[in-house]
Amino acid sequence: MPLFTHQTAFRHVLSLGLAIGLAVARLHAAADPVLAGVDSYLRAHPAGDAANSWSRDAYRQLADGALADLPIGVFDSGIGGLTVLEALLTTDAFNNVTHAPGADGRPDFDQERFIYLGDQANMPYGNYPSSGREDFLRELVLKDAIFLLGQRYHVRGPDGALTLRRDKPPVKAIVIACNTATAYGFEAIREALREWNIPVLVVGVVEAGARGLAQAGRGGAVGVMATVGTCSSEVYPRTIARTFAGAGLPEPLVSQWGSPRLAGVIEGDPAFDTPLAQQIAADVRALVQSHRTRLSAHGAGPQPIERIMLGCTHYPLITAELDAAFTALRGEADFAAWIAPQRVFINPAEWTARELFRELSTARLHRDPARSSGTTFTGEFFLSVANDRWPGVKLAGPGTLDTTYKYQRQPGRLDTEDTVVVPMTRTILPDVSRRLLRERLPAVWRRLPES
Ligand code: DGL
Repeated sequence: MPLFTHQTAFRHVLSLGLAIGLAVARLHAAADPVLAGVDSYLRAHPAGDAANSWSRDAYRQLADGALADLPIGVFDSGIGGLTVLEALLTTDAFNNVTHAPGADGRPDFDQERFIYLGDQANMPYGNYPSSGREDFLRELVLKDAIFLLGQRYHVRGPDGALTLRRDKPPVKAIVIACNTATAYGFEAIREALREWNIPVLVVGVVEAGARGLAQAGRGGAVGVMATVGTCSSEVYPRTIARTFAGAGLPEPLVSQWGSPRLAGVIEGDPAFDTPLAQQIAADVRALVQSHRTRLSAHGAGPQPIERIMLGCTHYPLITAELDAAFTALRGEADFAAWIAPQRVFINPAEWTARELFRELSTARLHRDPARSSGTTFTGEFFLSVANDRWPGVKLAGPGTLDTTYKYQRQPGRLDTEDTVVVPMTRTILPDVSRRLLRERLPAVWRRLPES
């Protein structure tokens, strides 16, 4: 067959494939009632001025090449995702000019700008699935993406009144810096971006973490420490199995423990008032106990946990304390054989940074400041807070939703603003979080405004 015919046939197959792909994507969107609901709400509010909406025009009106100039959006259910932002601000795994692997003495994203959202008013995300609210969680995750794509946020005046602002730039990439949100919302965001037809990249922490584990070069059983929701989704065991199979590696033994409290304790949420050291000791014990019970039930001998997946964004903040708790537990005769003398901790944040760099290279979306159109927008950090002026909202305290109210909400009410996004400052954070950021995330701390 002559080349021309080959190419024509190829183009026909390609467009047929694309048409089928689009049709399938639409079908999926329609099949997910949450995404379908979000989609029809957005169609009814195309200007991006309504609550939880964004305007497509911000992308349509971009000049050629201007997409690369936009910031990278990073979101989490709270401040834990700042561990991912810290990795993005500090990782040096590539040459910034050639994009080849290998450190060059410059942080990989030193030319990029970031916008961070912590959906603190709606956290812990990890407890929605066990409250039967997986669908509401998926909608929250879609709303986080909509915030990053859009321009809206609020500022609180000295009298407590909220004023709407619409000057936030949209983003060129979305990093889901939350394991639970990745488990329950990654596919929904990917579908939504396809449906909305915008060229925004999306990267999640779970696949990156599994790839990091595959490269950790150690044996031994894997212990996944995460939220209850992440564990019940089985996202880590599935993704680890797929990643190891793809790399031709033997599948490791994986045990998980989902803590309903640890992220909240780290965050300094008043609803979780257990002392941190006590909570860590309890969760480490629970992981090892469940590993031992599971293997013993199958008559298997001890297989020590050697690799620990920090499957919750907050846990890299307490790696040293976790390791100390494993050492202490290993001192008990009943547990000694089930914990390796030396452990390796996998922080998905570091691997997410590598993944994002590669994705930006493939899409040719690295920012070149020489070609930048210039920007006056300096806001980088945002946080959701409870909106005490919203009719019917129930609060546990200032800026905090009542727990029963929080977990009883239903999807499909995107016009509701019982929580709003405001700029995040050092002053607005609880004491515990402020101290953790100052001590453990110096690059983030330096950039976080005082007030
Ligand atoms: N950020 C969440 C995660 O990584 C933990 C906190 C939460 O449950 O919201 O899974």
